[in-house]
Amino acid sequence: MSTAAEGSPPEALPAYQDELHAEVLDDIRIGEHGYKHRLIDGIVMPPYITPSRYQLSRTLEIRPDDICITSYPKSGTNWLANVLMRLIHGGEAPPGQTLRESVHWVESAILYVRSKEELDAMPSPRVFKSHMPFHMAVGGDPLETPCRYVYIARNPKDVAVSYFHFESTAPWAGEYTGGWSHWLQMFVEGKLQRGDWFDHVLSWWKHRDAPNVHFMKYEDLSNDFDGELRRLGGFLGYEVSDELVGVIRERTGFRNTKQDSFSNLHEIPALSHFYRKGVIGSWKEQFTVLESEWFDEVYRKRMQGTGLDFDFE
Ligand code: A3P
Repeated sequence: MSTAAEGSPPEALPAYQDELHAEVLDDIRIGEHGYKHRLIDGIVMPPYITPSRYQLSRTLEIRPDDICITSYPKSGTNWLANVLMRLIHGGEAPPGQTLRESVHWVESAILYVRSKEELDAMPSPRVFKSHMPFHMAVGGDPLETPCRYVYIARNPKDVAVSYFHFESTAPWAGEYTGGWSHWLQMFVEGKLQRGDWFDHVLSWWKHRDAPNVHFMKYEDLSNDFDGELRRLGGFLGYEVSDELVGVIRERTGFRNTKQDSFSNLHEIPALSHFYRKGVIGSWKEQFTVLESEWFDEVYRKRMQGTGLDFDFE
């Protein structure tokens, strides 16, 4: 495969098809407005999160220097992955790889699928990505494994909007045919792929003080990038000089992320609209006033007493 480091565009990856990427087709369900999914452990998942890939992700032999970025989709996962890869590589991108190629997404049967043997042979530190709640984490029970988990969360209004736009263009999405209002309803009812946002985020928040869990927020990365990078470096044991902070901040900013051949995701044609707005508060262009008030009430009830809150603008 040609690589970003060699200066030529990477080859396009094959587009998603159930027959190629869902492994078993019998358990695929069709929900409201044609929303295609399967259930794993009772939680709504995309068809490309297959039972065998999930099983592999749970039983991987974990090394103490493994790192797993975890999130509900659309929370800044790729941004954090870019920051993390550059933290590991002194500000540079890892040689000869694209962002998606350098991160192991074990539970998924699309995009750089690697066998157990290949994963076992990967050099350290391995960086995994996962969209699983705490009890379904990569490597088994996080309280029992030496893996370092970095969880990133984002305010749920922006997540719901970003997810809506993302899914309306991606071939591997659930082929949802409904509109925004119904999407929001499904988001609140935990019917979107990866299940209930509140349960997901709170499952990791509950364990934020575990020595191998680091909880981050998209909004903090946006408002205090330098501080967040230093805290991330501290958690993972990397020296973070002022110079390195400046280099990583510059190279992972929204505009550069979209342009840089390491992070622009150009090898995946269906991700051409991946980097959409990259701001806090784009939900205001989507929510009606009534939807916003209704959601605020749901949010208040579900988050009450948890100690977790988000910036919405
Ligand atoms: P929007 O759709 O609101 O623009 P994930 O990687 O978890 O799928 O998250 C994708 C969201 O993160 C998208 O949000 C995307 O634009 C945003 N994002 C990606 N890189 C970013 C960056 N460097 N700065 C700010 N936001 C970024």
